[in-house]
Amino acid sequence: MKTIIEPFRIKSVEPIRMTTRQERARLIRAARYNLFALQSDDVLIDLLTDSGTGAMSSLQWAAIMRGDESYAGSPSFYRFEAAVKDLMPFAHVIPTHQGRAAESILFDLLGGPGRRIPSNTHFDTTRGNIEASGAMGDDLVIDEGRDPASEHPFKGNMDLARLETYLAEHGPSVPLVMTTITNNAGGGQPVSLENIRATAEIAHKYGKPFVIDGCRFAENAWFIKTREPGQQDRTIPDIVRDCFAVADGMTMSAKKDAFGNIGGWLALNDDDLAEQARAHLILSEGFPTYGGLAGRDLDALAQGLAEIVDEDYLRYRIATNAYIVDRLDAMGVPVVKPAGGHAVFVDARRWLAQIPPLEYPGQALAVALYEIAGVRSVEIGTVMFGRHPDGTETPAAMDLVRLAFPRRTYTQSHADYIVEAFGELARVKDDLKGYRIVKEPKLMRHFTCAFEPL
Ligand code: F0G
Repeated sequence: MKTIIEPFRIKSVEPIRMTTRQERARLIRAARYNLFALQSDDVLIDLLTDSGTGAMSSLQWAAIMRGDESYAGSPSFYRFEAAVKDLMPFAHVIPTHQGRAAESILFDLLGGPGRRIPSNTHFDTTRGNIEASGAMGDDLVIDEGRDPASEHPFKGNMDLARLETYLAEHGPSVPLVMTTITNNAGGGQPVSLENIRATAEIAHKYGKPFVIDGCRFAENAWFIKTREPGQQDRTIPDIVRDCFAVADGMTMSAKKDAFGNIGGWLALNDDDLAEQARAHLILSEGFPTYGGLAGRDLDALAQGLAEIVDEDYLRYRIATNAYIVDRLDAMGVPVVKPAGGHAVFVDARRWLAQIPPLEYPGQALAVALYEIAGVRSVEIGTVMFGRHPDGTETPAAMDLVRLAFPRRTYTQSHADYIVEAFGELARVKDDLKGYRIVKEPKLMRHFTCAFEPL
């Protein structure tokens, strides 16, 4: 059979509240055109994020009942730790309430004024935490990774030549080298095992620790298995282990590829650094055997890690994206190709060419998609990345709109509805106008800023 089915049955459902286009026009105006300000009951299909929004399995719910809430030494922690170490063989696994808490601890320890931290592309919270420490983040993804139309199989790869030059130039001020798998901000694009190994080698040559932001490690491993020469006959867990074996640490949002509704961790090999991180954890998150999570959450994550590396799941997961990307592509909607892991990315700068980057074409598209179809997406472009710590504003590398798919949550009819919505958008897109920002905070403005239509 050629049809790739959802490899699960549905045991418990949540109703979707239907809304009309008139209602949505009123709601988005009241939200000052920021989709983060909407109530989620007012959204039909919520593709704002794949973070913590997925469906847990029956075995994860069963694991929740098994959770032990002891303050210190809970068996839930040891099951969680064993599940992490089975895939990512780090000496120290430090649980946090989500990924950004792990980032905050890491950059409090290694960041600071005058320091520079390179990555393929830092995600927004990563960059936010780096900048909050006084350091600077630099994105060194390969050129193909900034070209939505390039069909390179590993568009998340680090530009190794640039990394070498960068380290030769800024060496003393660089405390660590990072790589994000998959490259979320760059279109959910994967990083090859070869590139991960080469990045680690260059980092180590300059005496720098190499840290992986592993949020979507399983999707990345699926792309390695299906696209990288010589990897086809290997298991997903083996590929995952190879990716992390060359790293000195990782940050993780367990709300992505651990099937959690909440959770994260910081893993490290260095004993001294881990000790400092745990001291920090106790101040800000909790005791090292729960670190900001309930015992039941740790058990749900342990089970989730066993499920996320299942090939039937990953095949279906990636096929959902490819299904939508292929249809949008056939309709002439410019999408980031090839399809990424967790999301479909639409190139709003190209599709709404009448709107200049500093008038936020991605925001215009995301607002129109909500009004027309009740689908919530997120701008990943100049709103998110355009404002700099020195107060200047420049266009981001790309103006994308991301449709991120919660794991195991929506079905193919939802996908068909989204494709139809883009058909409607195609009719009106040339008349869409840009926005201006009328109120914004200093850091990470996209979450809370207010817009006015131009
Ligand atoms: N790193 C990456 C690559 C991410 O995608 C995220 C979260 C984080 C770190 C932070 O993790 O949310 O658990 O604190 N990304 C979500 C998203 C929010 O919508 O892409 P967190």
